[in-house]
Formats: sequence, structure tokens, C-alpha cells
Amino acid sequence: MDREQAKIRIRELRDIINENNRRYYVENSPVISDYEFDMLMNELISLEKQYPDLVTPDSPTQKVGSDLEKPRGDKGISQPGNPAENADGGHRKEFAQYPHRYPMLSLGNTYDMSEVEAFVERAAKGLGGRTFTFSTELKFDGTAICLTYRHGKLYRALTRGDGAIGDDVTVNVHHISNIPTVLSGSGWPQEFEIRGEIYMPYKAFDRLNAERERDEDPPFANPRNAASGSLKLLNPAEVGHRGLECTLYHLLGENLPFDTHDQALNAAASWGLPVSDRRKVCRDIHEIEEYISYWDTERKFLPFATDGIVIKVNELAYQRELGYTAKFPRWAVAYKFQAERALTKLRSIDYQVGRTGAVTPVANLDPVPLSGTTVKRASLHNLDQMRLLDIRIGDYVYVEKGGEIIPKITGVELSERGKDVTVPVFPDRCPDCGTPLVRDDGEAKFFCPNTDGCPTQIMGKLVHFISRKAMNVMAGDATIEQLYRLGLVKTPADFYSLTREDLLRLDGWKDRSAERFLASLEASKATPFEHVLFALGIRYVGETTARSVARHFGSIDAIMAADRQTLLAVDDIGDVIADSLLAYFADPAHIREIERLKAAGLKFSIDEGTGTAASSALAGKTIVISGNFSISRDEMKAFIEKHGGKNSSSVSGKTSYLLAGSKPGPEKMKKAEQLGIPVIAEEDLRKMTEDASAGITEGEATAGMGDRTADGTGLAGDAADDTGKGQLTLF
Ligand code: IVH
Repeated sequence: MDREQAKIRIRELRDIINENNRRYYVENSPVISDYEFDMLMNELISLEKQYPDLVTPDSPTQKVGSDLEKPRGDKGISQPGNPAENADGGHRKEFAQYPHRYPMLSLGNTYDMSEVEAFVERAAKGLGGRTFTFSTELKFDGTAICLTYRHGKLYRALTRGDGAIGDDVTVNVHHISNIPTVLSGSGWPQEFEIRGEIYMPYKAFDRLNAERERDEDPPFANPRNAASGSLKLLNPAEVGHRGLECTLYHLLGENLPFDTHDQALNAAASWGLPVSDRRKVCRDIHEIEEYISYWDTERKFLPFATDGIVIKVNELAYQRELGYTAKFPRWAVAYKFQAERALTKLRSIDYQVGRTGAVTPVANLDPVPLSGTTVKRASLHNLDQMRLLDIRIGDYVYVEKGGEIIPKITGVELSERGKDVTVPVFPDRCPDCGTPLVRDDGEAKFFCPNTDGCPTQIMGKLVHFISRKAMNVMAGDATIEQLYRLGLVKTPADFYSLTREDLLRLDGWKDRSAERFLASLEASKATPFEHVLFALGIRYVGETTARSVARHFGSIDAIMAADRQTLLAVDDIGDVIADSLLAYFADPAHIREIERLKAAGLKFSIDEGTGTAASSALAGKTIVISGNFSISRDEMKAFIEKHGGKNSSSVSGKTSYLLAGSKPGPEKMKKAEQLGIPVIAEEDLRKMTEDASAGITEGEATAGMGDRTADGTGLAGDAADDTGKGQLTLF
């Protein structure tokens, strides 16, 4: 390749790598495998090596991928199809950002054992033949975190960000169960940083994805993306619910009293910090190889994802001597395991209809072992993907687990294609109800438009209605199916006229099960409005949007009365969601359904002052907010109201405070200055409310900044108890 060609290819590679970095670190929804990414990066590295004058400081070879949330326009974030929203359902728009005290770098990585040998030789040469050891560790596949402890207390948690500045996720980290807020033991330095990985164990990942699939939120591709998306969630209590865990592997600070990395981590463990005990100090390349080959097999039995082994020079003085390149330490390297893939035969394709009518092709495969489980089915995503793969029934196909867990078909082995293969036919009618399928502009999926008549969609909607984040009624999918098949429940409102006699018709149901179910339905009537709105299953109105809309309008009547313009004025509502809401409420059947649900006693407006107030710290205060905060603007307004304050949109003589976030409006700031209105920051506001909520723990107080309370009921304190008691007395 000559210089001109190299220049073009370098530009192309940088664009591809930057885009994939963004998808990986910011959107949490990568489209290529780690291996493919690493190969692109290797190509860029070798071209830049060949033409060093073409290296620029902004090349992705010179900096770490950034997870920083870029401030976006209000409308950008929650449009369907935007992976940021799709991938995590409730992404924060912007976090406070702080600089890292020490740059947060990545690791050089390789898939090649000979490069590990080369690393060992380089280190030995760099240290001039002195004796040293290596710490070998699992490479946890999660998202990097930097914790600062001051005076034995967790002070701040930052993501890697761009390596120099990270997003402040302290509030969320308080909800990760194995991260201590206060250290135990003794001898910890007054101030230190400890870095590690936040990851999601497989069990929590499977549970989360099952929930998301049921709610028709796109599942996370792998536990890493799930961990990273969850860490940046809007609602700290929900973070707690996601079952994240942490492992720490790098202690930093001034004048730390340790000679080796291993000693430092042992000390950290003695202070109650989560440190892996699957580490080993190795003396030479043979011991390193032994460790790698042991874990290459054994890692398949671990309850969490690992993607390799990290090899570090153990002596801290030698680490300092070897130092860093712009991007990596010279004292450590990662050996990465290749994602496993298997070749198997495609037997047939099912076309599954979901709750919203989306049709997903699912491949039925000859069972094949892959990373510890037997794979029989794999997703084919949509028609475009099937065309891209040029897949035929009877083909031999490659199956991979994205991040080791969800199987997907990544390719077809054309050399194995027999004569008897057949071209799959994507149905043009709903496989369930026979209605012609439609595909809207810009949609990857086909839909069955028979929303209220297609049995699968009806049952899917009923299941969604009672699901945990919606009405939270205790019943399984099989019960719902029976209720539907017996003609007892066709729409959600029918649940509330079920009688004991109706329920006794279900297979194996006795008095007690019927009573329990009725009690659970009764208790569900106390579900807050925002969950009821979510339960209705309006297309594109997920949990986060339902919350914003409910809080903005306060009642279903106000939402129904809103025209397009009014809807578009809400944070998080763009064209697609506005159209979906308008279409939903334009259907008289939906209005009748809402009337029936209202008559049954469900909440169709936000409770005012019914025990949900967190404090009266802001009573009598009129507050104007401007700029961006660590929570969305709607949440900030709700927070103010929860503490008794009143929101106003313009600064006047009646304004008590101007609450200024990042990038406040210059007009408002000027007006406040002219009128002598105090300008306060989010921290000041928190302080005011926290002082007033003295007695509640920090975790609970901060949970109030988000949405639901720590127990996930959405009701604070007494109100939550009430629901619990209500259920008990009814049983
Ligand atoms: S040490 C200065 N140790 O893998 C570099 N990193 O692909 C310190 N990782 O950036 C990192 N397990 O986020 C280290 N045992 C381990 C690790 C580990 C996972 C992550 C970390 C790192 C990335 C590199």
C-alpha cells in the first residue's frame, strides 16, 4: 500500500473505530464483536507504524474510548430507534463530570500467546535483568470504575470517561451491594483511589433480559453492555435492583505503604473492599501460561463474564520504572480469549409475534455446545439481517454468543451449502392472526397492525399490564393465557371484574390461589399513575417516557387533552412518541378501556400529598430551573414538588431561587441578577432537602432524587408500608 492509499485507509479506519467506540462506550450497543474491533485497531496500528508521520493525537490509537455522555438536544434521547434509549431504558442525559486525579488508561491487548512472551521479555529487558514477579488476574468483562475513599468513606465514583474526565456516578454506586460506603479493618490511607470493574453476573443479566423481552425493550447484547447501561441509569434504586457487582484491581494514591500490587490488593480486601481471590503471583512465563490455560477452561463455569487474563508486573517500584505510553501501562498486558463460535445446521425459522406486534425471526438449530450451554435457537433479528447473511434453510451457520450469552447467527459457511437448501420466506401475514404485516419507514421490523385483535398481542399486552414494573400483579404467563383462552379476560379492565368462581375454572386453582390473585389485583389499584400509564402498553411509551409524561401532565385527562404541540413540549417526547400517544387516544376502544379501569379504581392522576412528599423543606418556595442536572429536568421538577416547592418557568419578583445546572440560560441568569434572586446549584438544593430529611439514610435521600424508592415500589416510607399491609390484610 503506498502512502496515498495508506492515508485513505487510515482515515477510513479511524472513522469506523471512532463510530464503534461510541457505540460500545456511549450507546452500550456494539454492532461488531470485540475481536473484529481489535482487528481493525491492529490494522490501524500497523499502518501508523509504517507511516509515523500520519499519526495524529486524535487517532483512536492514541486515546482511550470515551464513555462520556455528550450533552444532547432534549428531543434526541428517547426517540425509538435511538440505541441509547433502547439499550438501557432510562439513560441519564448528563452527569456531573470531574477530572481523574491519575489518568484512567486502558490495557494493551493481544490474542496471541507469543505477544505475552514478548511482553515478559520487554519487561525483563526494561528492568535490566533484576528479578521480579507478575500478578496474573482475571480480566472482568464489565465497565471500568474509579472509587475515591476519603477518611474511610466512599467519596466519589467516576466512570473512565475519556480517561481524563469521568462521569460522576456516586449516587448509583451507593446502590451496588458489594461496594462498601464505609471501610472496615484498619490502616487504610486517609485518601486513596481504587479502580476496578462493575459487572453484571449472568444470573442478574438473564433476569434483566427476560424482563426486557417481556416488556419488549430490546435486550442487552451482553452483560458488559447491561452493566454499563445500568450504571448510568436515571434511577439509583433501579440500579440496586439490577444486581450489579464490583471487583477492584488497582490501588492508587500518594506514598502508599506497599511494595507489591499483590500486597496492596490484599490490604484492600482487608478493608472490606471486593477484590478477586482468583489472582496468582507468577514467577515466569511458564506459570503465566499455566494460569491462562487453566482459566481458559475454568472461566466457563464462573458466574460472570471474563474476556481474558491480565498480566501485571507485581513490584510497584518496577511498575513506576516501566511507566506508561499515552494509552497503556508498559507494566501490564491483557491476553484476550477468542469468543467461541460453533458451526451447526439451520433447521427452520420461526416468526414470533411480540406484544407490540413486532415480528422477530428466530432460528431453530441442530443443538450444538457453546461456552458451556447447548444452543438450539438463535435470533436472526429482522429481514434485513437475514438478507445480509443470505441465509438458507439447511445452511451450516456460525453461532456466537454476544459477550458469551445471547446466541446470534454471525455467518453462513457457504462452502458447506448443499443442493437441498431453501430460501426462507419471511411471512407477509401475521403468523398468529393472518393480518397483512406492515413495515413503517425507518423501521427494521415488520409489525402486525391488528393490535387489539391478534391473540398473541392481546396476551402479550395482558402480561405486560400485570408485570412488575407496571401493575405488579402476581400471576404467571400461563395463568394469563388460560384467562384469555377461557374468554374471561380480553382487555386489562376485565381483570378487575373477575370473580372467585371465574378463577376456580383455571386448572388446579383452589380457593386460596383465587383469593391471593384477587388480593393482588386489589392491591394493584394503589399503583402510582406513572406505572398505570406504562401498563397501558402504548407503543414507544416505555417506563421512562411514561414517568416523564405522567409527571408533566399529572393526569390522564390532561394527556388526552394535549395536542401535538403540547406533547412535543415535554422533555423526552419527540415526533414518534407524540404521534403514538395521539393515535392511542384517538381510538374510542382505548377511551372506553380507560373509563372502565378508572371505574375499577385505578389511579389516573398523580397523588398530591398522599404521603409521597419526601419533606416540606421547599414549602412556600417558588423555583425556576435552568440548564442541565444530574437527573432529567422533569425529575428535578418532580423532586422540587416532592419537597413541597413550586416550579415556575420564568424568573420574576416572586421567584425564591434560580436553580442553575450546567449551561443555564443567560437570560434567566441576567434576570435573576437584576432582581437579586439567589442563584443556587443542585448541590445546594440537595443540601437543603437532605438537612430537612435528617433521619433518612443518605441512600434513601438520594433515591428520592430519582424515581422509585429503594424497595422499588415507587412509594416512599409510609405509603410503601401501606401497600404491603393492604396486601397482607386482604390475604
Ligand atoms: S488493570 C492501567 N486489571 O480491562 C490499567 N484491568 O481492556 C489498569 N479490566 O481498562 C487496568 N479486569 O477496565 C486491570 N484485572 C484487571 C482487569 C482490568 C478487567 C478492564 C479495565 C481495563 C480494560 C482493558
